[in-house]
Amino acid sequence: KLVSVVLSGGAGTRLWPASRQAYPKPFMKLGGRTLLEQAISRGQACGTDHLIVVTNQDHLFLTQGLLAELSDPPLPHYLLEPKGRNTAPAIALAALACQKLHGDDAVMLVLPADHLIPDTKSFVANALAAARHALDGHLVVFGIQPTGPETGFGYIEVAKIGRQAQPVLQFVEKPDLATAQEYLATGRYYWNSGMFCFTAKCILDAFAEHAPDVLTTAQGVMSSGHTAALPPTGAVGAAQVTRFDAHTFGLQPDISVDYAVMEKAGNVMLVPARFGWSDVGAWPSVAQSHSADAAGNTMGITEDTHWAAVDTTGTHVHVESHGHKVIATVGVKDLVVVDTPDALLVASKEQAQNVKRVVEMLKERH
Ligand code: GDD
Ligand code: MG
Repeated sequence: KLVSVVLSGGAGTRLWPASRQAYPKPFMKLGGRTLLEQAISRGQACGTDHLIVVTNQDHLFLTQGLLAELSDPPLPHYLLEPKGRNTAPAIALAALACQKLHGDDAVMLVLPADHLIPDTKSFVANALAAARHALDGHLVVFGIQPTGPETGFGYIEVAKIGRQAQPVLQFVEKPDLATAQEYLATGRYYWNSGMFCFTAKCILDAFAEHAPDVLTTAQGVMSSGHTAALPPTGAVGAAQVTRFDAHTFGLQPDISVDYAVMEKAGNVMLVPARFGWSDVGAWPSVAQSHSADAAGNTMGITEDTHWAAVDTTGTHVHVESHGHKVIATVGVKDLVVVDTPDALLVASKEQAQNVKRVVEMLKERH
């Protein structure tokens, strides 16, 4: 059995004001479809037998509504988090659920709900190759060719960059800038995509060995769980929903699977990605996902919006408005302008990572 595990968490504060607490990054539309929808259909394209969605309990109805609009809606099993505890607990819970439903050898394809992967065909070929290595007892990661010394990614060392799958020599999560530069210079490192593939038993064994507290607390959470069928919505049948006790859930350590397992495990295998990939971290990567005009300007705007750009270069404009609106920019370069009904952002592209500080500031005010 091949099971997609979609992780729909993450606040996406660097994408404020399009990504909000009540309406976070997975629900952002890029290229006409939400990122969550894209992750789900990416799994379906691989011919997965089942879908597990791990998400916050506040987002169940938003997610169900979105699935009901799909042409071929899958019947998911939701694992509802009272509060985000990071990816290690989320994956451990999914693995326990997967093992219970489909057995030790169920292959989990873990897909974050905030990636942009335009080439589904290459992705499917890579994912099926990953599934074969997973059945051989490996924890599989997907390697992305690095384009710069980004410090927000995991770095994966192999013997030599190539087209074949190969064993991982070293996995380092989010190195500092100097280290990232050193790694790049060797030409032997990939970025970690954040997607994974392994059997339920293999990842549970890895938690037992490298992060036993993650496993034992997740087992406690699982036994606090109550599963029920949701009433069908539109074309979507009765999905299963498991809710957990909030106190027990909070006992899980807040740690990512990269630190908890991937940095420590000896059986990690890398599949080099043949597909284009972006994790849509901040506004510049959103801009890159749109095709630019001759002046390097990009836009993600609603239909009846008009952008009058005078002497404007390298600028991204994103408008979410109802009704007609004109945006004008004059004599500016390398800006991000995001206009939503109740918030307006003007930022330099260079400092777009600092947009998360806006969210922190706004939180302090409340
Ligand atoms: N359900 C759920 N619950 N999902 C979560 C949670 C949680 O508590 N925490 C994170 N996620 C989801 C996020 O929505 C995101 O899709 C994904 O898991 C990764 O989490 P991030 O918090 O965005 O991780 P990161 O970007 O710092 O680092 C990871 O991704 C990089 C690539 O984008 C690591 O795997 C890096 O090694 C990797 O390079
Ligand atoms: Mg991320």
